[in-house]
Amino acid sequence: MKGWIKSIRQSKGLIFIASTDGKEDIQLTLKEGEFQLIGEMKVGCSFIAEGVDSITPRGLPEFVVSKIEIVGSSDDDYPIQPKKHSFDFLRTIPELRGRTKTFQSIWKMRHYLSQEIHRFLSDRDFFQYWTPIITQADCEGAGETFDVKSDWLSEKLTVSGQLHGEVGMMSMGQIYTFSPCFRAEKSATKKHLSEFWMLEPEMAFYSLEDTIELSERLIKSVLSSVLTYTSDFEKIGIDTKHITDIVDKEWLKLRYEDICKEFKIEYGHDVSSDIEKSIIEKYKVPVYITHWPKDLKPFYMKKDDKVAYCFDLIFPEVGELIGGSEREDSFEILQSEMIKSGLDMDKMQWYLKTRQWGSVPHAGFGMGFDRLVTFVCKLQKIHDAIPFPIDY
Ligand code: 4AD
Ligand code: MG
Repeated sequence: MKGWIKSIRQSKGLIFIASTDGKEDIQLTLKEGEFQLIGEMKVGCSFIAEGVDSITPRGLPEFVVSKIEIVGSSDDDYPIQPKKHSFDFLRTIPELRGRTKTFQSIWKMRHYLSQEIHRFLSDRDFFQYWTPIITQADCEGAGETFDVKSDWLSEKLTVSGQLHGEVGMMSMGQIYTFSPCFRAEKSATKKHLSEFWMLEPEMAFYSLEDTIELSERLIKSVLSSVLTYTSDFEKIGIDTKHITDIVDKEWLKLRYEDICKEFKIEYGHDVSSDIEKSIIEKYKVPVYITHWPKDLKPFYMKKDDKVAYCFDLIFPEVGELIGGSEREDSFEILQSEMIKSGLDMDKMQWYLKTRQWGSVPHAGFGMGFDRLVTFVCKLQKIHDAIPFPIDY
């Protein structure tokens, strides 16, 4: 048995040690005079123990120790003591917070969610595709980019893998990227990070409706799959009602103009986080807001003279979980939209060329992975959904 000691309790000639090997928790039981100890047992230390598996009088598994050797020592200054620590405090020690049972399970949930996403897409003949992190392509066109500079290179960090993802789509039909994205905007909120992870599928011959349907099936499938990790939900200290409440229901699809009427938004204005909240309070399920005014949306989206063929998926607690659209597939229209939005056309020829030979109607979306983790684990802040949050 190998692992770390989480707590030590003594009672009537017995020592009970709560320990974990990272995967599982196990109680070590030490009977006075019947074990050999090398080193000093302290909360936080690591150990190698010899002994036998047994069952406690209460029917729980235990490991009765004959010999325990402390491998890495600890002391009373170890910050993760067996008591309740606040998330605020734990955020100040990112290097140690994963050693609480709560964060150990949040990190595991992040892993399960990621694995389920890969599984879902791979099972449906999507190929993972890798896009550059260092690139000039400011996909969302908001200019919220970080610079990357050296004596031989002057570039930016990517805000989205989408544009390169479209190149991958032209080669393999259906692809997805799953990679870090960077935004330099100074948003100090509960749901913004400067470095976050995004899942971006891109599909040839997909319409807006196909894309919405894929995203709904994907998220419902991933959410249902992680419901099986009951002990992690317990350790995080939450139930799963927020998930079971939405996985078996039809999610709403409403046009932007209808949202405007219902929630008294002036046509052409963005939907604020307060209104996102009201939307969820009213409908109680995730809501796709579709067909936004074309001026609110970036150059690459397919548009008519009034609206973009796009959607935002508004989710409980985290607000916008996904943004997606049909892409403009006409060379001429895309070229003029790119020029209008002030892109450096010399640097962006490679993207325009995706529409030069064999252009295809296509669509895709981007899902904020850290926001999904925030929702699943019912976290107060997105900063608790990723081991090392980088924020403004
Ligand atoms: O809506 P966004 O900006 O869309 C895109 O970047 C598209 N190129 C995606 C695509 O169509 N392939 O970002 C997509 C999602 C948002 O809905 C949100 O969940 C997440 O990415 N996101 C953030 N998550 C955490 N911190 C931030 N600063 C985020 N900005 C966006
Ligand atoms: Mg968006």
